[in-house]
Amino acid sequence: MNKRIFLSAPHMSGNELKYIEKVFESNYIAPLGEYVNKFEESIKNYTGAPNALAVTSGTAAIHLALRVLGIGAGDDVLASTFTFIGSVNAILYQGANPVFIDSDKESWNLSPKLLNKYLCECEKRPKALIVTHLYGMSADIQKIADICRLHGVYLIEDAAESLGATFDGKHTGTFGDFGIYSFNGNKILTTSGGGMLVSGDRDWIEKAKFYSTQAKEPFIHYEHLEYGYNYRMSNVLAAIGVGQMEVIEERVAKKREIFEWYREFLGDNDEIEFMPELPDSRGNRWLTAMTFAHADHSVIMGALEEANVESRPLWKPMHMQKLFENSKRLVDGTSEELFQKGLCVASSTTMTKEDVKQISTIILENI
Ligand SMILES: Cc1ncc(COP(=O)(O)O)c(C=O)c1O
Repeated sequence: MNKRIFLSAPHMSGNELKYIEKVFESNYIAPLGEYVNKFEESIKNYTGAPNALAVTSGTAAIHLALRVLGIGAGDDVLASTFTFIGSVNAILYQGANPVFIDSDKESWNLSPKLLNKYLCECEKRPKALIVTHLYGMSADIQKIADICRLHGVYLIEDAAESLGATFDGKHTGTFGDFGIYSFNGNKILTTSGGGMLVSGDRDWIEKAKFYSTQAKEPFIHYEHLEYGYNYRMSNVLAAIGVGQMEVIEERVAKKREIFEWYREFLGDNDEIEFMPELPDSRGNRWLTAMTFAHADHSVIMGALEEANVESRPLWKPMHMQKLFENSKRLVDGTSEELFQKGLCVASSTTMTKEDVKQISTIILENI
């Protein structure tokens, strides 16, 4: 294979440039403008979230959620340990303490059992939970939402990777007090960089908008009572987002098809286990993820790299990171094992069945 196959390359609908031209014609290049509103509307219509705010990144969206919820220095915030650091960096921005909860084998996402155990036994009640829907697959989110409600813990869903994924027909990102999506370069949809904060609470989204625009008080002169951030999405990037939203269902269908091709070529092998999909859920299969019972995944990665195919180990759990060596955690080895055994394989929506066949052959030759 000569042309590099990426894990998840940007894939435009074809209308993005046309919308960017309209932005240029209107000269609303800078933050705000009709495409920011259109992009927010399309996310609301698609996910069913009542309120949405387009921002510069998924990380910024999580930061705003924590700030609006009043989470600050010394507060404990629960989080999935099996995630990308973008889920939890904002906890540190707020001077709060992350507390990591392990995954379960049924979903590879946060374990509701461990969450409940922690909340029943902890001495200091955490203020919030940030739960990640990893690799586009829904966590056991209804149970998790019920546990949070029971214990009075705010729920923020990190749906950065899972736009289009549903549980019981309801979109990930809409079960919690807040949900966030990312439009970073390799996500299922991209705006080059960007994020969206959603919530059922209109006042919270208004407050987040206020913080995202330097916390300017509503006066003609510049009046400030609190500090804010420069987190609002640009109209140019929102125009890309509007074009991308036109093909979200197509992209989900293709990602799921790619997963089915991998399953067709690799599914019979006892060495290989795929990331599960919970009953009653639909994942977007952003990245096809798998574990190998005995094979060394670095050997497989090396062989794929030689064929110019990108792959990546599963996320190194947060509780294993030096940065968090002193953080509290409730872990049982599940995510550590996944990290040691697992790989994400190329899942770009431009890939063909032949690409997947060739990648699968390389995998089979190296296990
Ligand atoms: C699970 C997860 N959370 C948060 C983020 C942060 O999103 P962003 O890169 O838009 O800040 C990402 C992706 O980058 C992610 O994969």
